[in-house]
Amino acid sequence: MKIAVIGTGYVGLVTGTCLAETGNDVICVDVNEAKVLKMQKGEVPIYEPGLDVLFHRNIAQGRLVFTTDLAAGIKDAQIIFMALPTPPGGDGAADLSYILGAAKDISKLVTEYKVIINKSTVPVGTADKVQAVFKANTSVEIDVVSNPEFLREGVAVEDFMKPDRVVIGTSSERAKKLLMELYGPYVRQGNPILFMDERSSELTKYAANSFLATKITFMNEVANLCEIVGADVDAVRKGIGSDARIGKRFLFPGIGYGGSCFPKDVQALAKAADEHNYDFQILTAVMKVNEKQKIVLVDKLLKYYKNDLKGKHFALWGLAFKPETDDIREAPALYIIDELVKHGATVTVFDPEGMANVKALVGDKIQYASNQYEALEGADALLIATEWSVFRNPDFERMEQSLTNKVIFDGRNLYDLEKMIELGYYYNSVGRKL
Ligand code: UGA
Repeated sequence: MKIAVIGTGYVGLVTGTCLAETGNDVICVDVNEAKVLKMQKGEVPIYEPGLDVLFHRNIAQGRLVFTTDLAAGIKDAQIIFMALPTPPGGDGAADLSYILGAAKDISKLVTEYKVIINKSTVPVGTADKVQAVFKANTSVEIDVVSNPEFLREGVAVEDFMKPDRVVIGTSSERAKKLLMELYGPYVRQGNPILFMDERSSELTKYAANSFLATKITFMNEVANLCEIVGADVDAVRKGIGSDARIGKRFLFPGIGYGGSCFPKDVQALAKAADEHNYDFQILTAVMKVNEKQKIVLVDKLLKYYKNDLKGKHFALWGLAFKPETDDIREAPALYIIDELVKHGATVTVFDPEGMANVKALVGDKIQYASNQYEALEGADALLIATEWSVFRNPDFERMEQSLTNKVIFDGRNLYDLEKMIELGYYYNSVGRKL
């Protein structure tokens, strides 16, 4: 099939590349000339495991091309994916200007039937708004479809190639047929393609992310309570997770959810409910708890150092909001850095992929180490904010030589409690005994 993908951010690029991998001809369109030039030269603009292999293979085979020219990009496309940003507006509601703007531009160019797909996370009713834009500008028949993405950063290629499910919101039989064909190769194992109306599909995306954010937040509160009552959250997690109705996944407590999706989507769903005079109370609580959880390590430090962090020096392992990505959007590490600096402490950081992004944002407010051990030199304590595999089994002897004190505040529960006691560390993790 011939496909256009508008927007080559994280979602657009993964979508375009993975669609080319099953033999489709994909043209990715972006307004950013410098970025398009780089991609044309074969440079992958983001870090996403497994993406580079498919990216290069499909470019080499001529199935994946990049352009800034919207008209050329959509000319022959039967299906046009819109993967454009929907940032929170000033009031927390999703800003649709990129999507509606692109819809307007496309509507002035189309000359034959096309399926327009909203891949971005958009509020309920957006498909209708996009359809209205087309109606206002062209008489050509167009179907606007909602097809939310459920990709996780770090495993996005795998999630796209083997999705748990594909959700498609459309009332058009013609679009349905095309999309069955398009997604067929990705669901060969029998995972469902769920067809529904546009509004249900749009809400499915927000409900899924908000539910997952709620699940994590619930566990974070259980962990906080475990510390107070002397229980072990690992045991509780396993105890509840083996009930199939609860499930083992997404029960790991930590220092709050971050990233470009959960915080934005929980806020947007609460806001959307509010606009319809519905008070989605659980989401308000989730947001409030998560704000606190992001700086729970700093609260623990304040307690440990009796409210005085002035002149203290900390090593921070992990900057990305989660492992296997260089994405630092809404990363708890940024909030921790902010608080530590505010309290007069100094910080040296290390992250396998997120250093450049943090440097660009935070600058010389903090120091940057070239490896995880260098970050420890002269530090009063080590803080851990991201569960990168490389932090899971470190050389504790080497660490001891650099750290001023054997003190670790771990926001991701990486180490075995007994081992840490054996090694003589003061080891403070989340929801577990000291
Ligand atoms: C999330 C969803 O998982 C995807 O299905 C969705 O497509 C995506 O948002 C999106 O809307 O684009 P992502 O933001 O990449 O994906 O990251 P997750 O792996 O879901 O993690 C989100 C946050 O939850 C991270 O901060 C992570 O550290 C935290 N988390 C996750 C926990 O604290 N505990 C857990 O057990 C799991």
